[in-house]
Amino acid sequence: MTLEQGIACDLESNRVQELEDLLPKVQSKIIEFVKSAELDENNELKPTIGPTFNSPEDLKELLKLDRFDYYKGQRGGSQTGLMEMVDSLLQNSVNTWHPGFLDKLYASTNPIGIISDLLLSTLNTNSHVFTVSPALTLIEKFVSHEYAKKFGFTDKESGGLTFNGGSWSNVTSLHIARSILFPQTKLLGNGDRKFAIYTSLHSHYSIEKSCILLGMGSESVFKININSRSEMDVDHLEKTIAKSIEDGFTPLYVNATAGTTVFGSFDPFEDIAKVAKKYNIWFHVDASWGGNVIFSNIHKHKLKGSNLADSITSNPHKMLGVPTTCSFLLLPNKSIFQKSNSLAAPYLFHNNNSETENFDLADGTMGCGRRADSLKFYLSWLYYGESGFAKRIDHAFEIANYFATKISKLPNFELISDLPLPCLQVCFYFKPIENLSKAENTDLTRRIAKKLYQNGKFLIDYSPNPNQLKDKGEFFRVVFNTPSLTSGIVDDLINEIIVIGKDLYK
Ligand SMILES: Cc1ncc(COP(=O)(O)O)c(C=O)c1O
Repeated sequence: MTLEQGIACDLESNRVQELEDLLPKVQSKIIEFVKSAELDENNELKPTIGPTFNSPEDLKELLKLDRFDYYKGQRGGSQTGLMEMVDSLLQNSVNTWHPGFLDKLYASTNPIGIISDLLLSTLNTNSHVFTVSPALTLIEKFVSHEYAKKFGFTDKESGGLTFNGGSWSNVTSLHIARSILFPQTKLLGNGDRKFAIYTSLHSHYSIEKSCILLGMGSESVFKININSRSEMDVDHLEKTIAKSIEDGFTPLYVNATAGTTVFGSFDPFEDIAKVAKKYNIWFHVDASWGGNVIFSNIHKHKLKGSNLADSITSNPHKMLGVPTTCSFLLLPNKSIFQKSNSLAAPYLFHNNNSETENFDLADGTMGCGRRADSLKFYLSWLYYGESGFAKRIDHAFEIANYFATKISKLPNFELISDLPLPCLQVCFYFKPIENLSKAENTDLTRRIAKKLYQNGKFLIDYSPNPNQLKDKGEFFRVVFNTPSLTSGIVDDLINEIIVIGKDLYK
């Protein structure tokens, strides 16, 4: 090898040939992985949801990551080692394509998700500045404007940017609120001010973490009570704001949630907006989970009042099958991103004219390098269309309500979620006998969940009640967010819980 020739792909081979050789091999493994999650010839689930091992230590043993010594020196590039590792990764991972994956607020991706990620890695560009990602920049600007319009941000200047997940979109919204309402904090920090942030008892922990990160401290968070449907109690919000002012706090930000993490409740946005306006408080809607019901004509009424927000977080990576991560922070006027985040960095930004239009997207963030996550959402929207998104969401609501209604009528089940469900989670206890203690409920719930997973057909989650006063031990939280779910699969889950639960309690 000489300096004149260079090296292709870090190895002494032809990178085009190498790609032509490797891609089909990995592709066939990916297809096999997805196929293994399909129903069998009797339309039943296969026991292929994921590997079972007892502990991370056991998995370490199984994976034997140090079995290949290529990485230590001499020569890398063993295809055998690479393919062995690809197999091992797939075999030892949870298969989210499996219809029994009901564990978290996201589900598997889909063919368009895979294609989008492949394209992003092929381009391997950075959506911080227009110069290196011209098409991707315009895609992000376009799709975020279209998305913002769905929530009622209809101004031609509305738009958004992607961040690394809902938590980062939420942090950014709080930072923007502080910079816009109290511009001097950009220079001087919080000073003597004790800012107050209001959010419901059931909201996501990222709100509290945002306060820690921004130097306000977690004690600046005022937790607002919830009503019997787990929605924010607006009277309590107003009383809490008034009291916090008396106590010397400066009200800054109220967060309302569209689809809370455990129960899936939607806060009353219009009423909260009125209170926020009265006290000149920034009104943020964390719609990380429930925001995408906006695509459903049946369910979008749950977001009534979202147009009154100052900022909205919404994550295509949760309810729409877009690969993680894909989270948007949406604003009624996108120039606010730069107003609150820009620092002159002329070595990097050449297309960030704040007088006209910013094309260097990172200038509107606190970061620099960014992956162009919006492409994944754009291609998905393009391919499935709004009707495709609506169909997916409506089906998920139907199947979740089918499950919840069914168990509400069965002995041995105690449904905790409201019917009809506010979102796609179903929370419930399995009770083989009455009057189990808090510790017994938790123990039984965990053991049933573990056994279900060991049987290979279902992965479901559990949680304590976020309202600690009402916590009677951990209950199941099952999320029905998978398009391939059928009533037969759901019946199968109910039967398995009964069989396992009764067996454990014999
Ligand atoms: C209501 C809510 N907000 C924010 C988040 C955080 O989103 P992410 O996991 O994308 O950071 C979650 C996560 O489940 C959530 O449920």
